Amino acid sequence: MPFPQIRPRRMRRTEVLRSLVRETHLAPDDLVWPLFAVPGQRVRNAVKSMPGVFQLSVDELVAEAQEGYEAGVRSVILFGIPERKDAQGTEAYAEDGIIPRAIRALKEQVPGMVVMTDVCMCEYTDHGHCGILKAPKAGGPGQDLQVDNDATLPLLAKEALAHAKAGADIVAPSDMMDGRVAAIRTLLDGHGYQDVPILSYAAKFAGAFYGPFRDAAESAPQPGPGIPKDRKGYQMDPANWREALREVELDLEEGADMVMVKPAVPYLDILRLIRDRVDVPTAAYHVSGEYAMIKAAAERGWIDEDRVVLETLLCCRRAGADLVLTYYAKHAAQLLSGKKR
Ligand code: PBG
Repeated sequence: MPFPQIRPRRMRRTEVLRSLVRETHLAPDDLVWPLFAVPGQRVRNAVKSMPGVFQLSVDELVAEAQEGYEAGVRSVILFGIPERKDAQGTEAYAEDGIIPRAIRALKEQVPGMVVMTDVCMCEYTDHGHCGILKAPKAGGPGQDLQVDNDATLPLLAKEALAHAKAGADIVAPSDMMDGRVAAIRTLLDGHGYQDVPILSYAAKFAGAFYGPFRDAAESAPQPGPGIPKDRKGYQMDPANWREALREVELDLEEGADMVMVKPAVPYLDILRLIRDRVDVPTAAYHVSGEYAMIKAAAERGWIDEDRVVLETLLCCRRAGADLVLTYYAKHAAQLLSGKKR
């Protein structure tokens, strides 16, 4: 009988004792802050389903990043809303597009900030899919158009190259096409960007948690004849964990430097499995729907927002995340450094 000799509560008696034996820590520099860039000047469009998140013109985005930097955030990930969308997502790989412009401004004005970029087509295509569409083979199953995997790869690679040329520190493909990591690595290396790492959204699940993001990035699949209504043809089935390991394995073989699991909290089991099997840094993306849920409950006074945020991000770390992408990055960094409340 271990009790009464053994009493785990002994080490929980005071905060100093607890901190002495704490196994996991959360720090501002574990966090990556997603920001949305839009054309124009002095633009700050509030995103309705994400209180505290804005579509920002480059000048405002730089100011916002500066504030985050002062709170201790050391990394941002950029998403772009372009001037024009078309079927080929041309603006995604335009060298003077919204993201290259944002990168240049950030690297110049907040030089200490690590700038990551999301590499995907859905913000740039008029149909809202993460790749270009093609008609299915005659006689094949279904009538819908399909996202053309192989024809999309060179476009993603060109997009990553445009970001690297503008000064991106890390590129992060989120499209879930097969072979994208290799395509991006090859093109980057061919142009002398062998030092730009790839963070692959390796296990990205087709779930219901991305709704608010699609408001922010104006990237929802658009209704139209033959256009697939969701992303289930390329993002993963939430029921699958073995497949997540397979995706990670393939991305690492193709040259990914870091891998991501997305969303975060409902998928922490997947993160733990990956963390136990691979040695590269792993990231968790606490996505828009997860953010919106905390915000909504906090606005009603039903939960203590600050405590829930820090606990959520800590739990991502405990499950194995080296980095956590979160819209709460600045807020959490301010809490952690005692600059808030
Ligand atoms: C682009 C992309 C998405 C997110 C990150 N990159 C949206 C999607 O797959 O529809 C979602 C992030 C979030 O919900 O916070 N493909």
